[in-house]
Amino acid sequence: MNDESQARETLKSLAEDVAEAASYLRELGVEGLEGLSAEAFAQTAPARDETRKAPAQMPPALKRNASAERPLPPPPPPRTLPPPPPQTSQAARPQAITDAESPDIPYQADHMPKRPVRKPSPDPPAPRETLFGDITPQDELSLGRPGETFEDIRADVGECVRCPLHQGRTNIVHTEGQAAARLMFVGEAPGADEDASGRPFVGRAGQLLNKIIEAIGLKRDDVLIGNVNRCRPPGNRTPTTDEAHTCKPFLLREINIARPDVIVVLGNTAMKNLLDTKEGITRLRGQFQDYRGIKVMPTFHPAYLLRDPSKKREVWDDMKKVRDYLNETKDRKPE
Ligand code: URA
Repeated sequence: MNDESQARETLKSLAEDVAEAASYLRELGVEGLEGLSAEAFAQTAPARDETRKAPAQMPPALKRNASAERPLPPPPPPRTLPPPPPQTSQAARPQAITDAESPDIPYQADHMPKRPVRKPSPDPPAPRETLFGDITPQDELSLGRPGETFEDIRADVGECVRCPLHQGRTNIVHTEGQAAARLMFVGEAPGADEDASGRPFVGRAGQLLNKIIEAIGLKRDDVLIGNVNRCRPPGNRTPTTDEAHTCKPFLLREINIARPDVIVVLGNTAMKNLLDTKEGITRLRGQFQDYRGIKVMPTFHPAYLLRDPSKKREVWDDMKKVRDYLNETKDRKPE
């Protein structure tokens, strides 16, 4: 073997060592080692013929010394790589964070390198714009702000254009009565008389409601009266789900301020909207329900009683339960 081929062999051996070391480092996750493969060396190393044609490209240390035939250093012994780090046993490995402990940061499967991967977070509650320009999740808005008053809520409603019902209204019909009232009535939406006057339950159905209130020994001024929707739907149609959902938070905030002992929901639509139930009024009327710790009595709407006076018997039964509950709890300290 002449000097030149010996030098070539030495270079080849070195290149293989470097490629092997690079491959090991890559396994350990070291980056930036592209091009340090045996194949890459083979590609970048001058071909045998080219070497002959261009010996100047050889490393100076390997250049033939024309004057003194310097012996080339012996090829280095094959380099042995340190053994890969021993696999840590299950017990010694840092404990994986379980889904239960950190539900949104699961760990990848058991290979290097371990990197936390974020799960897509569950859909947040739909945000709603408030008058203050900030974005508040629907649920938080439903509860209102600490210390707010009925006046604050009226101011937030403002000249509302949040749903299409504003187009046909004359007046917004706000909740009426004392915030300290123990009993609240909740209807569906204003009718023509309420739209004209800006006050809830002042038409024929309202007259009947006044009688119902008096039948249990109270006066209209003693109670709170409101509606899920504050604007009259055209032709007194039932408010759509969207219309109800848009307006309802204002009512819920008022309920949260007043926290009456009992809420009487009048009719199917008001009941379904307040209680978020799919059950009908015929099934639930007369049985106390719960809204955030407040007793809720569903009963028929007075407008329905005007159409079918035979239903007054049931409403009277329901109202007696309300009266009795209020009497039983009248000395109870507010929670
Ligand atoms: N019907 C209702 O539901 N609310 C009113 O204010 C009047 C009639």
